[in-house]
Amino acid sequence: MESATGTPLIIVAGATGELGGLIAHALRDKGASVRALVRPGTAATRLADLRARGVEIREASLTSVPDLTEACRGGHCVVSALSGLGRVIIDLQTNLLKATEDAGVKRFIPSDFSLDFTRLPRGTNRNLDFRKTFQEIADKSNLEVTSVLNGMFTDLLKGDAPLIAKPISRVIYWGDRDQPLDMTSMRDTAAYTARVAMDTNTPRWLRIAGEVVDADGLRLAASEAYGKSFKTMRIGGIGVLSRMIDVTRLLAPQREEVFPPWQGMQYMRNMMSGRGKHPTLDNDRYPDMDWQSVREVLGDNYGVPVQ
Ligand SMILES: NC(=O)c1ccc[n+]([C@@H]2O[C@H](COP(=O)([O-])OP(=O)(O)OC[C@H]3O[C@@H](n4cnc5c(N)ncnc54)[C@H](OP(=O)(O)O)[C@@H]3O)[C@@H](O)[C@H]2O)c1
Repeated sequence: MESATGTPLIIVAGATGELGGLIAHALRDKGASVRALVRPGTAATRLADLRARGVEIREASLTSVPDLTEACRGGHCVVSALSGLGRVIIDLQTNLLKATEDAGVKRFIPSDFSLDFTRLPRGTNRNLDFRKTFQEIADKSNLEVTSVLNGMFTDLLKGDAPLIAKPISRVIYWGDRDQPLDMTSMRDTAAYTARVAMDTNTPRWLRIAGEVVDADGLRLAASEAYGKSFKTMRIGGIGVLSRMIDVTRLLAPQREEVFPPWQGMQYMRNMMSGRGKHPTLDNDRYPDMDWQSVREVLGDNYGVPVQ
């Protein structure tokens, strides 16, 4: 459906967050009309950037299906970039899904944005199990649902992900040094998702990776980006990682955290074992997209000689 200005109206939930904000920006760059659904009472300062880019702000509680339905009316697609535990990913996202149907919007993009969990058995990753449960609910709806699977955000290599240990110049891995890993920057994930949202007919799953890289590829990228020579360091096999996850979860369960350390390690296990690897890529669906490499995301200090 088009807005009064003749451009598709895309509804974004989670636009005050990191990825959702980038999706809203990418949609505006591509000429879409964007309506952000935000919590009632969200501080104006948190909305200034969205407003400055011409995003319409609509307050609606994710607990109220009637309010959400009103807020979704006229949309071409609803995009969820919500983040949270089961309460958010299953319960509140289901309210949003229901409202999307009730409002007569045809298309829905869930907040999956992860490695490929479609072939993972339950029990290997708590946060991905929430997404599997939501998948079962979404697939019973009458909506055209499309999930964007991006592997790991490349940006995490600069901080949270325990893969590139800059102070000791090591790339850390478990299992097989040659295991390919899917990495996509947040910028590219947002840009691709914007294209999917504006599209008219997309498949159930779209898999992307800005770069597919193994431990040695990460070593080269880190060496170039940081201007010093990195080495790879194998901590152990996947069994060792599993035992580390069990012990960490026992000692520091942090059940209410979305990304406690043991949860991050579960993502590492899914990637390093190859079980969460994308079997194919759909990057070429939008051929004009320009994908960021790991090296580009790590830093722009190219040309510094490797020591
Ligand atoms: N593949 C990867 O490597 C990777 C890494 C990180 C994240 N992700 C995924 O990317 C997606 C977005 O994550 P993010 O990092 O952008 O999240 P984020 O910055 O934490 O933003 C989360 C958004 O959800 C909203 N939200 C959460 N609970 C809500 C509630 N009860 N009511 C209303 N709004 C609520 C927040 O609103 P407020 O601002 O009002 O709180 C915010 O807009 C998630 O699916 C996440 O799992 C993937």
